[in-house]
Amino acid sequence: MKKIRLLISLVKKGASGKPVRTTIRELAETLETSPQTVLRILAELEEGGFIERKVMGKRTLIEVLPEGLNFLQALCDEISEAISGGIIVGEVVSGLGEGAYYVRQYSKLFEDYLGFKPYPGTLNVKVLFPKTVFDALCNARPIIIPGFVREGRTFGDVKAYPVKINGIEGAIVVPARSIHPPKIAEIIAPLKLRDALGLKDGDRVRVEVL
Ligand code: CDP
Repeated sequence: MKKIRLLISLVKKGASGKPVRTTIRELAETLETSPQTVLRILAELEEGGFIERKVMGKRTLIEVLPEGLNFLQALCDEISEAISGGIIVGEVVSGLGEGAYYVRQYSKLFEDYLGFKPYPGTLNVKVLFPKTVFDALCNARPIIIPGFVREGRTFGDVKAYPVKINGIEGAIVVPARSIHPPKIAEIIAPLKLRDALGLKDGDRVRVEVL
């Protein structure tokens, strides 16, 4: 872990592909560890071909070599792959009571496009992981529910992302025009999820993007 942190701090100091001046003391402070530990890790990194180091008195010149950069890149890819698997972890919250009205307006369209008649309302899930709903949906392809005008009111296009919430199928619905990444996922489902899953405000749920 310290090895990775040290490599990252060197890169942050500008050592990718060119030597930067630093001191063992400075690196030890950054890593909140002892100079001895820094020296040991630097030796390991050097042995692994990740860095090149020149010592000039108290100053040290360190360069992170392509091997070191590729190591970080591979690690980054692996972490992204592991955690961006279309899973949302969130908490049930109450909304403003508007969900039912909107779901009723789009009900027939939801049925046609998603294959289920939605319970009139949206279960609001405050997203705890990842940072926003969009982060979890970026690789998913939405079903676009076309907007319409009814009694002089315009209802915009809606993006629907099929999901499973604690095992039950539903969809996250997002107004197609919204640009601000929502912190709340609004979920429609054929059932009243609070009853079907015994949910109350504050309960944790796992939403799997299909
Ligand atoms: O906006 P607010 O959360 O007040 O409610 P709503 O969208 O009008 O939905 C009415 C109630 O049903 C809320 O308590 C929702 O959390 C819940 N609901 C549910 O349990 N399952 C659904 N598929 C849709 C809504």
